[in-house]
Amino acid sequence: MKFIFSLVLFASIAYISYAVSVTWGNRNSSDALLMRERIVRAPLKNNYWSVNVEFPKPGQSNQRTISAVIVYDHFNNKSGAQPNLWSGGPGWRFATINLKSAMSSGINSTVEIYGR
Ligand SMILES: *[C@@H]1O[C@H](CO)[C@@H](O)[C@H](O)[C@H]1NC(C)=O
Ligand SMILES: *[C@@H]1O[C@H](CO)[C@@H](O)[C@H](O)[C@H]1NC(C)=O
Ligand SMILES: *[C@@H]1O[C@H](CO)[C@@H](O)[C@H](O)[C@H]1NC(C)=O
Repeated sequence: MKFIFSLVLFASIAYISYAVSVTWGNRNSSDALLMRERIVRAPLKNNYWSVNVEFPKPGQSNQRTISAVIVYDHFNNKSGAQPNLWSGGPGWRFATINLKSAMSSGINSTVEIYGR
């Protein structure tokens, strides 16, 4: 009984973490958080959002190598924005992440970039 319970619990944790976040690269415990940005957009009727998140920001510079890019989706219901890594990312010092919302849906996502 205890075994079945822990199996179910593990399955639901794995499911939730799969559903709400997307990770590129590997975050190591000594990595520094280089950027955290929350992107929130209200739904557009019969249209969708396509938002580019740039790191570093224009006019800023970054000397660290990115180890991981993590995007959290706060909708938790599969209608949140789909993230794509358009350029850079792990192994580079820059990254462009695109967030594309579902039709007639908004965005409520957080982008985190770690480096070392
Ligand atoms: C994290 O990365 C540093 C630098 O590459 C490395 O020395 C260290 O062993 C890594 N730590 C873990 C827990 O992987
Ligand atoms: C975004 O998600 C956070 C965390 O679930 C929530 O507290 C916040 O109200 C949401 N914002 C919008 C605009 O939906
Ligand atoms: C998903 O969650 C968001 C934020 O809570 C909400 O605005 C949206 O209507 C939900 N979509 C569906 C299909 O339930």
